[in-house]
Amino acid sequence: MRREHQTYRPELHFTPEKGWINDPNGLVYFKGRYHLYYQYNPHHCNWDSMHWGHSVSTDLVSWEYAGIALYPDMPYDGHPEGGCFSGSVLEKDGRLYAFYTGSIKKPDGTVVQSQCIAWSEDGYHFEKSPHNPIIPCPPMDSVTDFRDPKVIRVADNYYMLVGASEGGADHGGKGRLFLYGSRDLENWEYIGCPIATDGSLGTMFECPDLFPLGDKWVISFSPMYHEKMHQAIYFVGDMDFSSARFTPVYSGQLDLGPDYYAAQSYHLPEHGLVSIAWRNAWQWMPWFCGWGDTVQEGWRGNLSIPRVLGLTSTGALSGKLLPLWEKPFNQEQCLLNLRPEQELLITETNRFYCKLELNTGAAGSRVQVTLGAALSIDANGREVTVTRFVEGVKNHQASLMLSPGKAAIHILCDRSCVTVWTQEETQYASYNIFPQEPFSLKLSTGKNTTVDKLQIMYMG
Ligand code: FRU
Repeated sequence: MRREHQTYRPELHFTPEKGWINDPNGLVYFKGRYHLYYQYNPHHCNWDSMHWGHSVSTDLVSWEYAGIALYPDMPYDGHPEGGCFSGSVLEKDGRLYAFYTGSIKKPDGTVVQSQCIAWSEDGYHFEKSPHNPIIPCPPMDSVTDFRDPKVIRVADNYYMLVGASEGGADHGGKGRLFLYGSRDLENWEYIGCPIATDGSLGTMFECPDLFPLGDKWVISFSPMYHEKMHQAIYFVGDMDFSSARFTPVYSGQLDLGPDYYAAQSYHLPEHGLVSIAWRNAWQWMPWFCGWGDTVQEGWRGNLSIPRVLGLTSTGALSGKLLPLWEKPFNQEQCLLNLRPEQELLITETNRFYCKLELNTGAAGSRVQVTLGAALSIDANGREVTVTRFVEGVKNHQASLMLSPGKAAIHILCDRSCVTVWTQEETQYASYNIFPQEPFSLKLSTGKNTTVDKLQIMYMG
């Protein structure tokens, strides 16, 4: 495929060479390379018959497709409306273990989801356990959806967090998370339910994650049918593994935009704990919407740039973009001290990084930046409203906050992948936008507004 003629395909964000991708299922440094696993349909650009795709990289920016890691070819995972669903990987004694959900549909229409294991000596070829499924059914009969095992090691024990729904994801059920424990990765015992809700947080908790930060534990998941639609949300708190009791002290969203789902954390030796997400969401499924026609380029779906995780002084989860993305940018252009009431066409391209430095202290300070007709970023004092338009109609609105005093708005445009952030810690919004032509990036300043500096860099 000749990538140079592709209008939508980003360069810094991972995309499949061809076919459909959704959730990240593993990012691990193993035997001298980064290995990335993901939900994949190699046959066409729509979701079905889920495989685990596999790509390798030495720098986390250029990826080489390495074939299929898991095929949906067993009685417990082989089904066109199912397959090898999401999960996680873990290294133990020089071997890589993949945990995933086998999902099938019985002739009567009942969906059966069970937890399975496979292993690999080289990261490329996986063997499924003859004892699969290692967890054949949920801990109680009222649970229907039961998937996406996240396995972690804590001291000499292994724990698995599984997403679930009591009552059914599509039938007004209640989101649940289940915790299991194991000493050997194959035999698992149910411990309990660290997060159970009355349904107001969503009907099903997909792709759970569990990781330590400082003396706290973080649990994140992507709820289905949450009132704010599909977002990756998190809770910071205290975890007692012996009873599965989780006591949250803080909660939030990993990203305030519409296109950030199924986030997972991975420990990378050089970078620490990073998080990546499927930079789409379920309204992407053709039966929900179908806009954003990357299909004409033979692919659909992309993953976010890794963010290094931490906790802020107020206890919120923070994520700083790995500086890797800065490398391909050059040709800096810089404008200083923009006067009030200016209208400016900054550039016409869809491959740039732009940073706007301003002072939010001035009363009535207002700045508007627009990206063609697709995105409008309106800063009013410290509040920034980002609105996405699809075919002229308002499609999503996010509210971000600027730091008090000296602050900055950042826009990273990697063709169809646009990210806006106002604080490198907690204030990100991710978007997929499909330009028919290069974006016009325009700026207008209000009456009392001082823009100290406008910096723009282009991809070389
Ligand atoms: C989340 C999800 C997971 C499931 C996978 C199937 O995007 O629905 O719950 O395992 O996608 O592809």
